[in-house]
Amino acid sequence: MSLPFKSHIAKLPAYTPPAVPPGVTQAVDLSSNENPLGPSPLAVIALREAVETVNRYPDASGTALKGALAQKWNLSPSNIALSNGADEWVLLLCVSLVEPGDEVVMAQGSFISYLLRATEVGARVIRVPLKDHTHDLEAMAHAITDRTRLVFVCNPNNPTGTMVDGAAMDRFLEQVPERVPVVVDEAYYEYVADPGQMRGLAHVRAGRQNLIVLRSFSKVYGLAGLRVGYMLSSEAVIDYVERARPPFNVNRLAQAAALAALGDEEHVRRSLEANQAAKDTFYRELPLLGLHPIPTHANFMAVDVGRPGAQVSGPLLERGFITTATDGWGVPNHVRFSFGTPQENQAFLAALKDIVRDER
Ligand SMILES: Cc1ncc(COP(=O)(O)O)c(C=O)c1O
Repeated sequence: MSLPFKSHIAKLPAYTPPAVPPGVTQAVDLSSNENPLGPSPLAVIALREAVETVNRYPDASGTALKGALAQKWNLSPSNIALSNGADEWVLLLCVSLVEPGDEVVMAQGSFISYLLRATEVGARVIRVPLKDHTHDLEAMAHAITDRTRLVFVCNPNNPTGTMVDGAAMDRFLEQVPERVPVVVDEAYYEYVADPGQMRGLAHVRAGRQNLIVLRSFSKVYGLAGLRVGYMLSSEAVIDYVERARPPFNVNRLAQAAALAALGDEEHVRRSLEANQAAKDTFYRELPLLGLHPIPTHANFMAVDVGRPGAQVSGPLLERGFITTATDGWGVPNHVRFSFGTPQENQAFLAALKDIVRDER
């Protein structure tokens, strides 16, 4: 008897967390672009309080959190939908908008979830190469056909850290037919020094129906382990996707912590300062090792290692640093690492120096 497995799902790789080799007792995880400062302290206080009420289901409407987000972004709660991490929207958008054989357009060299989740629903995936490590929006616009049901733009882009400038995004959105939903994934929005270049929200506010902006509490707010993300879009899109959302997808603790973190401006400020300091360190130190990073707008960096990334991420792992070789994502010969604490960054640079020196 064979079980009714779908062939396009059976072919997908299951997610395997990086395996730490025996002998490495304390690995530093620089592979998931988390906040090295920890969660917002106000979120931790809110969590302690909320834990007393976990016998109750969460508020399925996320009223308080959506209200705070609406106020922050000057939108109506009817323009917002919450998710179990932004990643859940990637899946639910594919499930709710794409039929088997439909086309989904994305960059080759971008967040791997788009490829995996579109494949999962049987889409024909159209991957458009990056240009100078950045989304080639002109080419992506040309890749849109009558069969296109979804477009993903990651801005800033994971794993390269690049962003598209505002004028290029405006031009692109003008070119995309209104019947094609465009997801602009802004998981790293808060790290962008010039948010005026980030055009997603402006287009939602201006009433563009087909634009879907994704945001995350996993990055600057330091709540990756709680899983909270959200979507900003037109009322028509929100009304539709809310039908595909499991009602209790964002749990009580997550809602309480996200609400508190959103108001913790001090934690955000400290996190951004630490991120800038880490960026400066790597811009200064990596060239001294003969390594050239791609300039980044996020809390991670991809560096050209001049050989398949695994040949550097492997030895880094043996030295206790978990990083990502981006070859499988479509960015060959690069290793992506998140910024750690100042001490972790110094130790990471020392390990990298060791590897580069060994191989010279
Ligand atoms: C571009 C991008 N989008 C979405 C996510 C997932 O975010 P979340 O933790 O909110 O699911 C990530 C996580 O690394 C990411 O890099």
